[in-house]
Amino acid sequence: MAIETQPTEKNGGCNGTGGRVAACLRHVTKTFGMGTTEVRALDKVDFEVRTGELLLLVGPSGCGKTTLLSVLAGILDATGGEIEVFGTRVDRLDQAGKTSFRRGNVGFIFQQYNLLPTLTAAENVAIPLLIHGEPYASALARARQYLEKVNLGDRADFLPATLSGGQQQRVAIARALVTEPRLIVCDEPTAAIDGETGKMVMEMFRSTALSADRAIVVVTHDNRVFPYGDRIAEMLDGRVLSIHENQYAPHHDTQPPHAAQQDTRQGGKERS
Ligand SMILES: Nc1ncnc2c1ncn2[C@@H]1O[C@H](COP(=O)(O)OP(=O)(O)OP(=O)(O)O)[C@@H](O)[C@H]1O
Ligand SMILES: [Mg+2]
Repeated sequence: MAIETQPTEKNGGCNGTGGRVAACLRHVTKTFGMGTTEVRALDKVDFEVRTGELLLLVGPSGCGKTTLLSVLAGILDATGGEIEVFGTRVDRLDQAGKTSFRRGNVGFIFQQYNLLPTLTAAENVAIPLLIHGEPYASALARARQYLEKVNLGDRADFLPATLSGGQQQRVAIARALVTEPRLIVCDEPTAAIDGETGKMVMEMFRSTALSADRAIVVVTHDNRVFPYGDRIAEMLDGRVLSIHENQYAPHHDTQPPHAAQQDTRQGGKERS
C-alpha cells in the first residue's frame, strides 16, 4: 500500500490547522504508569485529519487507538507533543479550557456508552444541549429528531436499561451528534449492532455529520465499515504507521465483494 502521509519531522509542529486540516498531532506521546509498569500507549505519533473526511483508524488490540482518540478529543492529556484541533492548541489549554473547547467542537462515542440510567433516551440525548443552555422543550424536541435519525424515534421515552446494547449505542451516537460538533471521534460505533444497522449508522454519519468544514474519525475492526471511510490510518505499537486513501471506498475502482451493492451513501461532502 502506498504511504501517503508520513511523519513530518521537517514540519516541526502543527503549523496551524485550517484549510484542509481539521486536527493535527505532532510527536504526541502518552505514557501510563511509571518505572517497570510504564506503558507507552502513544509513541511520537504524527497524524492529521482532513476537513470533509471520514478517517478510519485500525490496528490490533492494545496498539493505542482509544488513547489516540481520547487525546485528540482533549479527554486525556498527552505526556508530550502538540495537538491542534480547528486552530486551537488543545495541549495548551487548562482543564476548564479543554472542557469548554470539547463542548463547542467535539462529539465522542466511546466503547462505554455512559448513558445516565434514570433519564430517558431523549433526555440523555438532550444533555449536551441543556449544558449549552438550550431550553428543555427545544432540547428535547431536537433530541427526538436525532433519535429518529438513528431509527429510535419509538424508544425516545424508554430508560437505557430497557434498551438493547445496540439501541443504547445508537442513543450514545445521537447524543454525540446532537450539538453538530465539527470533529466527531467514535470508538467502534458498530461493535454492538447488526450489519444493516451498522450500515445505517455509517450512512447517517456521512449524510448528517460530514461537510466540507467537519471531520469524523472512526476506530473500527469491522470490515463492513471500510467502504464508508475516505482514508485509513494504520496503528501498531503506539505508532501511526501510515495514512492512505481507502481502496475500498466506493469512489475508488476497487471494492470488496460485500460492498459492491452498498454505495447508497449521501455525503454533503466536498472532495478537494
Ligand atoms: N488508564 C490506563 N492505565 C494504564 N495503561 C493503559 C490505560 N489505558 C490504556 N492503557 C494501555 O495503553 C495501551 C493502549 O491502549 P488502548 O486502549 O489505546 O488500545 P486500543 O488500540 O484502543 O485497544 P482495543 O482495540 O483493545 O480497544 C495498552 O497497552 C493499554 O494497556
Ligand atoms: Mg480501544
